[in-house]
Amino acid sequence: MFAEATVAGRKSHVSPASAMAAFDLGQPEAYRAWREHKLARYPSAATELIVEVQNLMAPTAAEHAALLDCLSRANMVIYRTDPERTARDAVRAFGEHFGLRRLDNHLCAEEDGISELRVNEGGPQAEYIPYTDRPINWHTDGYYNPPERRIAAMLLHCISDAADGGENALIDHELLYIRLRDENPDFIAALMHPQAMTIPPNVENGVELRPCQTGPVFSVDSGSGRLHMRYTARARNIEWRDDPMTRAAVTRIGELLAGDAGIFHYRLRPGEGLLCNNVLHNRTGFRDAAGHNRLILRARYFDRVAHT
Ligand SMILES: [Fe+2]
Repeated sequence: MFAEATVAGRKSHVSPASAMAAFDLGQPEAYRAWREHKLARYPSAATELIVEVQNLMAPTAAEHAALLDCLSRANMVIYRTDPERTARDAVRAFGEHFGLRRLDNHLCAEEDGISELRVNEGGPQAEYIPYTDRPINWHTDGYYNPPERRIAAMLLHCISDAADGGENALIDHELLYIRLRDENPDFIAALMHPQAMTIPPNVENGVELRPCQTGPVFSVDSGSGRLHMRYTARARNIEWRDDPMTRAAVTRIGELLAGDAGIFHYRLRPGEGLLCNNVLHNRTGFRDAAGHNRLILRARYFDRVAHT
């Protein structure tokens, strides 16, 4: 069984086992080869992430190839399409073109599994930060999910933007992995520990909505052999494994995310969207005004983008 990857317009075949070797601390040669390839192709500016798409329902072969090429370089792409022609069914169909079918129907999602992120004062979702205009710290989506509901990919589609603010910062988690491993492979060992990070249960009015979740920060998906990251920079209500190397690694992640190496900043405009393999991201606060009420459609998938 071989996964297929598009590399610079040509097809190459990488088995999950050989993809996985790059993330094995016992195989430094495999890591070096993968690292060199990754760094050589990583985009140097957010503008390199943008791909125009005429119709989300039916991307052309050339558009599809350009989107996949960008995804294979950075685990993310920003598509740009006509805002007048976009509805939630188009967003859903677009995901399906990339093998994204298993949507996470979580607490706040609509019936079709797509969430509408907007300021929702006083509503049932008001206490969840994505539904406010407040800044959101660095994280990957679904870091509180159990392993069987791991979010491998996600899509954010902008229907309307705020009067100001609402910019995302983005970094491929594979790039962060490289920075950490180059500095100290022990950081990686600590972050791959099955007890590295614990998220306490979500309890509302004495009812447990979600149990406690303990797991690694970095893990390798056995199906694709690719790296997954589970992370939140929030300081409250996170229990890190009580060991010096874990603490040092978490501190270093915070420092790297506060820098600018490999980090893109982009403010989605109407008709634009981010499609990614759940890369690390944050969001600045924003201000709505009449005619400028920020509305983002969000889809979270258990599938990883196919062929990336
Ligand atoms: Fe998010």
